Amino acid sequence: MRAIRLHGFSQEFDTIQIEEGRRPVPKKGEVLVRMLYSPINPSDHNYIRGDYRRALERLIWNRGSETLYFDPERTNPHPTPPYTLGGEGVGIVVETGSSLLARRLKGKRVALAAGPPIGVWQDYVAVDAKRAIPVPDQLSDQEAAMTIINPLSAVFMVRDVLRVKPGTFLLQSAAGSALAKSVIALSREMGFETINIVRDGKHIEALAELGARHIVRLDQEDLRDAVARITHGRGVPYAMDPIGGELSAEMVGCLTLGGHLVAFGTLSGPSFELTTRDLMMPEARITGFFLGNHIAQKSPAQMLLTLRYLRKLLGGALGDVVIREVMPLESIHEALKLSRGGGEAGKILLHIGDR
Ligand SMILES: NC(=O)c1ccc[n+]([C@@H]2O[C@H](COP(=O)([O-])OP(=O)(O)OC[C@H]3O[C@@H](n4cnc5c(N)ncnc54)[C@H](OP(=O)(O)O)[C@@H]3O)[C@@H](O)[C@H]2O)c1
Repeated sequence: MRAIRLHGFSQEFDTIQIEEGRRPVPKKGEVLVRMLYSPINPSDHNYIRGDYRRALERLIWNRGSETLYFDPERTNPHPTPPYTLGGEGVGIVVETGSSLLARRLKGKRVALAAGPPIGVWQDYVAVDAKRAIPVPDQLSDQEAAMTIINPLSAVFMVRDVLRVKPGTFLLQSAAGSALAKSVIALSREMGFETINIVRDGKHIEALAELGARHIVRLDQEDLRDAVARITHGRGVPYAMDPIGGELSAEMVGCLTLGGHLVAFGTLSGPSFELTTRDLMMPEARITGFFLGNHIAQKSPAQMLLTLRYLRKLLGGALGDVVIREVMPLESIHEALKLSRGGGEAGKILLHIGDR
């Protein structure tokens, strides 16, 4: 079977190889999934460039440690290349190890969030049955491939971290992203308004179709002027930012008294500079979010409830993600280059196998 393996951090994908390997055998409690599709997400690039590793080196709990861990309990180490890439995708359970849950999934179509070292960009993946989530029938295989990382992060950030109240405004950057579209879907469900920041006009139509009433084009309008106009000078109580750099500081400047921004990506740069008083005077808050560590803090019961809620939303088309191109696994290098950002809108999807 084929697997996409990374042999060293790289900006240009020259350390990525397509390799033949043995089909894994599922252990007790595991399922073996034959993969169909997987999106290329920004987090896949982080694993390729070594961005996570560099960030983990700075964390207090990794001081003096050769192995770098995502968590202070040191249960979740960052893998060392070579490893198999691919954060999420969809496939069919074709074999199971012994356990009731695993056996119940046999033959089902499931979404997986796996990630290196055992990523999903391979023909077969063996994973803990608890990580294989059956997907509603009304989603196509391609849509089903993108149902965990972004929709789940959106649900956690909106409901758990920000605790957005109905009738309020939420400001979000990278509004053309898959994650932002999940937030718009949540705004319809929960009854809040989004103010959507885009850098140009290419997402306007799609966002309007999703019901986004407020779209701010940074190539046409100053962010603070736009937010002041839309909120009648009050500012917003909530903001979500995966961009970083100057835009994050500007978004903090749009917060009302007691406002709260969650930072969850570094699309334009690894840091941002803030004028301290812009945080002090509105008694604003900035919170970080990282899906893996957020999940790690949840009890199994809390996770079950969240996944149930997510499943209900997925039935109602959570996110309507635009697919830009579907490419075969063999075209991985070209697919990664295309997915690096800029240019056209939409996700690049890897086609790994047929049903
Ligand atoms: N912290 C976490 O746990 C977590 C979990 C999930 C996602 N995320 C983050 O959420 C973000 C969105 O993920 P996604 O999968 O939804 O993304 P996506 O669908 O691939 O879309 C990326 C979007 O980012 C915009 N963008 C990229 N570089 C930019 C830049 N330099 N300046 C302004 N806009 C830029 C693109 O805008 P154009 O369309 O204009 O090119 C595009 O709309 C990523 O940063 C991802 O890492 C974080």
